Amino acid sequence: MNIDDKYLLSDIKVSKRKQDEFFSIIKDRANGKPVSRIIKKRNFWNSEFCINDSTLDPRPDSEVLVSSGIELAKIFIKKEINILELGVGSGCILLSLLKEIHFSNGIGVDIDFNTVMVAKKNACNLNVEKKVKFLVSNWTNGFKGNFDLIFSNPPYIKSDDIKNLQIEVSKFDPIIALDGGKDGLSCYKKIFKNIKNYMSNNAFFLLEIEPCLSKHVVSIAKSNDLELFSTQNDLSGQKRCLIFQKLKKN
Ligand SMILES: C[S@@+](CC[C@H](N)C(=O)[O-])C[C@H]1O[C@@H](n2cnc3c(N)ncnc32)[C@H](O)[C@@H]1O
Repeated sequence: MNIDDKYLLSDIKVSKRKQDEFFSIIKDRANGKPVSRIIKKRNFWNSEFCINDSTLDPRPDSEVLVSSGIELAKIFIKKEINILELGVGSGCILLSLLKEIHFSNGIGVDIDFNTVMVAKKNACNLNVEKKVKFLVSNWTNGFKGNFDLIFSNPPYIKSDDIKNLQIEVSKFDPIIALDGGKDGLSCYKKIFKNIKNYMSNNAFFLLEIEPCLSKHVVSIAKSNDLELFSTQNDLSGQKRCLIFQKLKKN
């Protein structure tokens, strides 16, 4: 309601308009709308991100991609680290990294124009707009580049499972951010097809996964000349992040 905490201790009357607004919001929440969608923002890593109906609501589990990326960035003994994120959404992963890694620049790609607009706004809010460019693209179609760290948290829910998710997700997160096709793997298959052409020699590719898909994703990676470097768990101890490198040929 945009009022000060002190207001709660006072006997100031709430206007009819504010009361109506309040009860309409309560109704929305009772119907499953997440608080973050009501207030149109969500905290992630150490910043606040604007969201709208086009963007996935950032999840704490995805923070493992940020912490892993920050650790890996220390390996590069060079001035500027080039970062790519495929499926950038609100920008929560890429922009958190650009804030934390001093000498870095990034490209954020998403197929949805409105999503890219939100990511741009968040880049300005976090003062990293000079370090980042955004592209509306179907994964890597239509651009070239050479990156040291590549990130993706692609849609990975099996199409048939979406209706069974909690209402906060199934009704309020955009379908394009959730739907991973019949087996949950369709986006991984497309992304892996030519990702190695975008990786510098020592690059790392960090992927968010549904833990039960791990084996399948590793096998897709192998058939595209990438090998597993390490795995990282999310806050509930589940395997959530797979880190790949280009296969080293002897
Ligand atoms: C699971 S969301 C992740 C969003 C954000 N990175 C995060 O972690 O909150 C997946 C994102 O991929 C985008 N996406 C889906 N299909 C795509 C495609 N073919 N090319 C590029 N982006 C795509 C969606 O619009 C969505 O923003």
